[in-house]
Amino acid sequence: MGVRFRGWGMAVPDRVVTNDELSQTLDTSDEWIRERTGIRERRIGGSSGSLGALAGQRAMADAGVSADSIDFVLLATTTPDRIAPATSTAIAAELGLTCPAMDVNAACSGFMFALRTAQGLLETGNKRILLVGAENLSRWVDWNDRNMAVLLADGAGAVVLDYDENGGDILSFVLGTDGTAAELLTCEHGGYFQMDGKEVFRRAVRVVVDSAQEAMERAGITSEDISLVVPHQANIRIIQAAAQRLGIDMERCVVVLDRYGNTSSSSIPLAFFDARENGRVHSGEYALLTGFGAGMTWASAVVRWS
Ligand code: COA
Repeated sequence: MGVRFRGWGMAVPDRVVTNDELSQTLDTSDEWIRERTGIRERRIGGSSGSLGALAGQRAMADAGVSADSIDFVLLATTTPDRIAPATSTAIAAELGLTCPAMDVNAACSGFMFALRTAQGLLETGNKRILLVGAENLSRWVDWNDRNMAVLLADGAGAVVLDYDENGGDILSFVLGTDGTAAELLTCEHGGYFQMDGKEVFRRAVRVVVDSAQEAMERAGITSEDISLVVPHQANIRIIQAAAQRLGIDMERCVVVLDRYGNTSSSSIPLAFFDARENGRVHSGEYALLTGFGAGMTWASAVVRWS
């Protein structure tokens, strides 16, 4: 028994903000941002609710399922539109749903933590879940702070998940939290994101490698079996360093951060969507989904597309 991935959708704001545009108001440059992060441009605008609803609608259309067949809406977000009510309720309302809806916050690991939550819900009686990752990080960025402004962006990705009594696509899951590292990346009420970038970088590589190795071990495979890595999109150098340590070449890693920046909970579904659009997802093949974020939190899963 288990979880089947049915259909995917994404939504990003129309407004493109290039590195050159940022360097008009910040002491930075296109060259620095590209070299140190891999980001060329990002999308800015909208709200977590509006982007999430659009991505959710597209995922349902992609899966060919009607809204009334959804029996739970889960939203992974670090940037809810309001403290209360949960932004997932706005998404449910927009889609005409009255099933339970709730938000999950695990920062940039949010999509993975919500996927794990969805797995639990599906294995205990739910039939179909709409899982959305949506972020409006730009609202919590100090646009005079070059440390954060060059990295964070807005966007949403969504997936429809079905329960299947005959088997599932998720073969293993490894998640963790180290709350003693909380101060490395924070955003206070009414404040802005702040980060010790170097230390986040160092720890990110470690937790991605460790959790990915354990997830592959639990799934009974090695890195050679992995056809596709769908990593959290924070920095190309983090992806390169982790891939190298795992013995996985970059050709197998999905990279969309050059176009979308770091969209936190949305980055893994955005990356997956892009990979599928480009014909990189094939049934029967193994993929590694892996992420990390403020908390610190981390999560890796091995999936085999049905
Ligand atoms: N533009 C231009 N120069 C910048 C800059 C910017 N946006 N930000 C920092 N610099 C400067 C620094 O002041 C420093 O100058 P100095 O050598 O004169 O002191 C130099 O660039 C190098 O800074 P450093 O902080 O060592 O750069 P870095 O290689 O560590 O890259 C990050 C900085 C933030 C890109 C990188 O540490 C990172 O990506 N960390 C992880 C962040 C992350 O993933 N966060 C999300 C978690 S979900």
